Amino acid sequence: MCGIVGYIGTKAATSVLLKGLKRLEYRGYDSSGIALLNSHLFVCKKKGKIASLENELIDLKTDLSGYTVGIAHTRWATHGEPSDLNAHPHVSSSGKIAVVHNGIIENFPLLREKLISKGYSIKTQTDSEIIAHLIDYYVCKYEDFLTGVFVALEKLEGTYGIAVLSEDYPDRIIAARNGSPLILGVGEGEILIASDASAIVEYTRRVVYIDEREVVDIQRDSYQTYDLLQKRVDKCVEDIDWDIETIGKKGYDHFMLKEIYEQAESIQNTCRGRLLHETGTSRLDGLNLKNEDFTRIERIILIACGTSWHSALIGEYLIEEYARIPVDVEYASEFRYKNPILTPSDLVIVISQSGETADTLAALREAKQKGVHVLGVTNIVGSTIARESDGGVYSHAGPEIGVASTKAFTSQVMVMIMITIMFARKYDMSLETGQLLVEKIEKLPNLIQSMLDTAHDIKKIALIYSNASNFLYLGRGVQFPVALEGALKLKEISYIHAEGYPAAEMKHGPIALIDENLPVIFIALKDSIYGKIISNMQEVRARGGKIIAIATEGDDLIRDYADHVIYVPQVDRMLSPLLTVVPLQLLSYYIAVERGCNVDQPRNLAKSVTVE
Ligand code: G6P
Repeated sequence: MCGIVGYIGTKAATSVLLKGLKRLEYRGYDSSGIALLNSHLFVCKKKGKIASLENELIDLKTDLSGYTVGIAHTRWATHGEPSDLNAHPHVSSSGKIAVVHNGIIENFPLLREKLISKGYSIKTQTDSEIIAHLIDYYVCKYEDFLTGVFVALEKLEGTYGIAVLSEDYPDRIIAARNGSPLILGVGEGEILIASDASAIVEYTRRVVYIDEREVVDIQRDSYQTYDLLQKRVDKCVEDIDWDIETIGKKGYDHFMLKEIYEQAESIQNTCRGRLLHETGTSRLDGLNLKNEDFTRIERIILIACGTSWHSALIGEYLIEEYARIPVDVEYASEFRYKNPILTPSDLVIVISQSGETADTLAALREAKQKGVHVLGVTNIVGSTIARESDGGVYSHAGPEIGVASTKAFTSQVMVMIMITIMFARKYDMSLETGQLLVEKIEKLPNLIQSMLDTAHDIKKIALIYSNASNFLYLGRGVQFPVALEGALKLKEISYIHAEGYPAAEMKHGPIALIDENLPVIFIALKDSIYGKIISNMQEVRARGGKIIAIATEGDDLIRDYADHVIYVPQVDRMLSPLLTVVPLQLLSYYIAVERGCNVDQPRNLAKSVTVE
């Protein structure tokens, strides 16, 4: 989704901004642009990849080395097609104000009419352009940059993260946030502003999180933060605990592959210091739950979007089975508008890798508004969801750059497992069972590694089926959400239509799709419903479907029913999704690579969806 980066300092701004934009590429975008400022504004915008913007800058043959102030943007189209014109920064009719904007201005049609009546000419189809004219209007009226921005912000309805330049105030950037994240990087003699820490971390790890409804006035070597009522707000400088190395490809062809391979380690990071042998439980202090809360809670509601929603579904199976607490799983986008029925005995847990997904954040706010205790499971320290929840757990998967979530998903599932054990031990799970599970969790990284070691075999299967037009993924129980996740991964990065289904439900519709061209992936581990899933496999076989089975090591029988078998080590049911999902991630990856798809930045998708 859209990305912002701004720079003021002593370096040539162009190269800092272009590097910053490249760090934001992973969020998904369709055009980009840059505005530089000395005594005049220089603006360049281009549809397509950042390389097109770079080439355009080279073709212009303008010496840009003297510019040390600038803002830049990657756009993910909402209002108006991807084009050079609609790309940001937008410049006011006077040519004096340049703005980059993330978010959506809902009352832009009304503002547009007013601005036209005041003589401004609107050039683009975007909602964002009007912000430049509006600020221009009020800066002229009040003869002050900061006041002009404040007054303009009062008129906006919707969400924004913005960064603004004014030709009349050449040594300043003003930025503001309302519903779209911004982070300030405080370096030596330079200050950066960005929508995402990855654009900043190369220059400084000292950051200030700009909170909702805050404005920051950035000058060459200082900054001041305000609330929207123009009252000064003093903020702490915090340290980011990862560096630029962490977000490199480290020799892998794609970020996604690197992240798949990191899972043995990322799972360990998720658990570090959180498993207690002696008491056979987990310790998640950040949840801020007291003993009386555990007796009060009668229902847990898990809320998320996309892949995170799949980890919520796994959480539902686990918490209900082991902790015996009823769980509901909700799509955040549905929950927020359905006037949900919540009671004081409910506990809401929102799950979000980015901690910024607009719908998930809105669901969190709705639940809090209704007086329910809300916990957040997020991967990004300092993200909005982390800051607005009553308590939570960081999944500590490390930065995930590939748009298709892999290691962040397995870390979320690990958090669900730890939450399950914690609740189950408060109720009726025995000490012995708890201790055994803790021991098994500690062995998981080796088992995940053994799955990664089968990549070569999975690649061979991928090559056989890379031309298929449809895939069906089937699983039962806790493997059903894994089937959904497998199908989503394939869809996202290879553009092959794929559906995940509960295996037994296949008879009620998807069976009509089965013929010799349909690869069907069964997650068929040796458990209490193994016999049932074998029957489902026979139903597919009888209709000529091709079967790829994910099966338990040592299960030779399954070879009679499947065309290909991928074995996973025998493991407790609670932990099994962490193993079964790995071959599905690899399969999607190799199929997408074979089809020549852009694995890390699939078309139309965004890493962090900060609009509704
Ligand atoms: C986008 C991403 C998905 C992600 C979903 C939820 O659609 O492309 O990979 O699962 O948002 O994101 P979140 O950050 O809330 O987990």
